[in-house]
Amino acid sequence: MKNYNIAAIGGDGIGPEVIEAGVEVLDALAKADGGFAFRFESFPWSSQLYLDQGHYIPPGGLEQLKAFDAIFFGAVGSQKVPDHVSLWGLRLPICQGFDQYANVRPTRVLPGVKGPLANGKDIDWVVIRENSEGEYSGVGGRVHRGLPIEAASDVAIFTRTGVERIHRFAFELAMKRPRKHLTLVTKSNAQRHGMVMWDEIFFEVAKDYPAVKWDRELVDAMTTRMVLKPATIDVMVATNLHADILSDLAAALSGSLGIAPTANLNPERRFPSMFEPIHGSAFDITGKGVANPVATFWTASMMLEHLGEAKAAARLMKAVERVTASGVHTPDLGGTAKTKDVTRAVIAAL
Ligand code: IPM
Ligand code: MG
Repeated sequence: MKNYNIAAIGGDGIGPEVIEAGVEVLDALAKADGGFAFRFESFPWSSQLYLDQGHYIPPGGLEQLKAFDAIFFGAVGSQKVPDHVSLWGLRLPICQGFDQYANVRPTRVLPGVKGPLANGKDIDWVVIRENSEGEYSGVGGRVHRGLPIEAASDVAIFTRTGVERIHRFAFELAMKRPRKHLTLVTKSNAQRHGMVMWDEIFFEVAKDYPAVKWDRELVDAMTTRMVLKPATIDVMVATNLHADILSDLAAALSGSLGIAPTANLNPERRFPSMFEPIHGSAFDITGKGVANPVATFWTASMMLEHLGEAKAAARLMKAVERVTASGVHTPDLGGTAKTKDVTRAVIAAL
């Protein structure tokens, strides 16, 4: 029997609530499957810890995480800590420290869920987000604070290595999908350096994948295509910031941010990968027991796939879809179910 060591970081807001639900479901799945088991270790890294002790990740913390097979992450963000401090205190040090350069965001309208589009059933996408550099590289500065000559810059850094590897990852993933289609999304009309390099490297990499059909779109035009012609899209690859924005649009079009999952992958497996729901900490519903755990379950399914348990991953998604189809919905989907009701229903379906 295989044993997987998983680091569970609930973080802030509804993060701990959904991770607890995810752990329950994963344990139930392991029991039902019989071929593997989980050992979860919980890390209290959060904004509360930061306010109490001055750090999110304690000294040596990243080193400690390295020993795990995967990281199961809730959310970070608190009303008591500026967002850029919490983000750069917890999530980005893990993403960048573990070179999780491929951020993968699948989007579908699950059975029983009503998205805002009449043709929502056509949505079956994977957004691939470059996750290690670009607009989130952290390079820049701020000078002359408070003076009329104050100046600030955020520099988007694009490297050949970083761009080539995300394009290769995108082509590999597109190859495994029935439609084998990839859309390159940039803004190379206005941004004439980094974005033009993105395009050029894409064309080079494309030569190695003749089986993949591809096209390209400017990011602004991509938003309209997602809304008006969803069936023409399969996999898309875009920069850190562009894909951040497109993936929120994708999540909304799928019916709720409460459904959307993410994998932060280090494809070479030199470091553990991190799996998290997209929704964030959601202060407005924290502690009410109504957070939608579906995003976390879908995220858990992606984690299983990464661990090599494809059969169990598919089984979990089937159980989740049976539950969404049956109408057991939390308030974000227009229902009255609690987190616990959805969790129980998914365990029963398993
Ligand atoms: C996401 C989130 C984060 C991001 C926030 C919380 C900084 O929006 O995962 O998409 O922009 O990366
Ligand atoms: Mg986002």
